Order: sequence, then structure tokens, then C-alpha cells
Amino acid sequence: MLVRAGGKAPLAFIFASAIIFAVVLLHRYGMDSGMLPDTATIKNNFAASFGAGRSVKTFMDRSEKLWQKTVQQRHVLRENNYNGQDIGFFPARDGPSYFTWYFSIWDLIPASYNCPHEVERIGRMGDGGKWVCGMHRYETKKPCVLYSFGIQNESSFEQEMLERTNCEVFGYDFSVSDFGKALRPEFSDRAHFKQVGISGLSKPENNPPFYTIQDLMAQNGHDYIDILKIDIEYAEFDALSSLNAWANGNMEFPIGQMLIEIHLFRDQPISSLSFLDWWESLEARGLRPVWTEPNLLAVTVHLEDSQPRLAEYSLINIHDKRNVLYH
Ligand SMILES: *[C@@H]1O[C@H](CO)[C@@H](O)[C@H](O)[C@H]1NC(C)=O
Repeated sequence: MLVRAGGKAPLAFIFASAIIFAVVLLHRYGMDSGMLPDTATIKNNFAASFGAGRSVKTFMDRSEKLWQKTVQQRHVLRENNYNGQDIGFFPARDGPSYFTWYFSIWDLIPASYNCPHEVERIGRMGDGGKWVCGMHRYETKKPCVLYSFGIQNESSFEQEMLERTNCEVFGYDFSVSDFGKALRPEFSDRAHFKQVGISGLSKPENNPPFYTIQDLMAQNGHDYIDILKIDIEYAEFDALSSLNAWANGNMEFPIGQMLIEIHLFRDQPISSLSFLDWWESLEARGLRPVWTEPNLLAVTVHLEDSQPRLAEYSLINIHDKRNVLYH
């Protein structure tokens, strides 16, 4: 609508419109704040919706079905589109090929299992923070063992875990000599750092040395890790396959919850099919993905070819009789 400035009628019109606008706005905000439940109500409803006739066990049974559905879909998609051939992680490159390949590798491994508790972001926003399933279950657990592989200088996750739980934190990174500055000195009695790398085969003669996950656990006298945070720039494949092969047999996979950054670097030999096989070898041991987010820094900082090659996953172990999430 064209309104000529200075005219009497238009001025009155603008004035009236402003009042109507203000009334509508007030009404809307009034309505909204009246309808928004307070925090206590949200918490109660949340607890009730989980509790109402549904034990953690029945909730997990349902989650398992939701997860199985996506595993079946993955198998069909793999059979129809991969057909034994490696089409890469990001097969669609333009409009026409999108209709053939309407997915990227991340779509094949959705976080379709529902965490049976709350999911909370621990540590800073952005790279370094992690999503934890059932944080409150760790807040009272003692003893509690947390391993952190790949620290660089970012320790906000470790700091918040130390602050809120009784966990002992074992940190490893070959590229730095200690935790980052975020880790406060008053927690140093529960925070143990070693300048060591993680690999599929132990190489104690290297400087700094490299160890498998199972060898580090043995060095510390552990046969179980409550939470493993792992961000080791591609070495995750060898390290976890090695742990899996070692634990295979009668032993449960000895990790309760895993917070992992996956790196599908272009210049590494892993193929899309071998990646899917690796992923399923972990699912076979009871790991279920409950949360995911792309780590888009690979795109924005133009890592390699700027494809979204990094993603974060939180997985919980459902075949694990020691898991504090259900026991
Ligand atoms: C980590 O190291 C980088 C590069 O030296 C530095 O710019 C950054 O401030 C450091 N971050 C923390 C949390 O110490």
C-alpha cells in the first residue's frame, strides 16, 4: 500500500495500524507465555511420558524395532545401489545424479535407536562438545571410568564430566603433552593424561608410543569403560576393529557408551562398503546409535574436497550387563 507522507488521513491510518499491531503482538505474546509450561512442568511431563506404564526395558524393546527397521532399509538400499561396487560416500554430484543417488553415506546409518534417558550436550558448543545419553545415570555412579582419545587442546567435555560425576578420566593424545586449559587444577587427581597415540597394533618403541585400546585398559587394570570419547582422525577404524577382534568370543564389548567423531577422509583407503561393514561389526556387538550430527567444519574450512566427511555419533551398548544406563 502506498502512503504519501505528510497527509492527515495517512498519518491517522499509520497510527491506527500501529495500535492494532501492538494489540495483536501483546495478545500473541500473552497467549504464548500463558501456554508455555514452566520448567518443573516440562520435567514432570518428561518423566511421566517415560514412566507411564513403560519401563526402560519396554522402551528399549521399542527402540530396537525402530533401529531394526533402518537396518533393513540400509540393506535394501545397499543391495539396490551399491551392488558390490563402491559408489563412494557422496555419490550424488549434481541434479540428475541426485535422482539415482538420493542419499549420502550418513543417511545409511541414522541414529534410529532412542536413548532411554535424556540426551544432554556436555562440553562447549561446536567442535569438542559431545551429546551424552543418560547423563544423570553417571552423576551418581562410582566407580566410573571415562577414556578420552584425541584431546588436542580442547578439554571442555572432560572438565564438565569431572565436575558433575565421580568419573576418573584417562586422556591420551600423541600430539600434546597434557589436557587443555579448560581442565581445572582442582580435578587433576581424577584426570590422568599420557602422551600416547591410539592404534590397531601397539608400537611401544615409537616415540611417542602407540597402543591399542585393550593394551591401555590392561595397563590401567580396567576391563570396562563406562564412556569412551574418541576423536582420533581416522585411526578409529583400526583401533575399534582391533578392540572388537580382541573382545570377540565370550566377552561383551567392554564399552558402555561411545562418543565418536568419524573421519571419512578422502586420502585414506577405506571404501563406503568397508565402512558399512565396520559399522555393522560394532552394531553386531550391541552398539546402537542414539544421536548424530554432521561436523560441518570439514565443509566450512574446506578440508580436502569440502565434502561433509566428518560426523559425530553417540552409541550405547545394549548387550552390556554392566551398563549404568539400564542396571
Ligand atoms: C588451542 O590452540 C590454538 C592454536 O594454538 C589456540 O589458538 C587456541 O586458543 C587454543 N585453545 C584453547 C582452548 O586453549
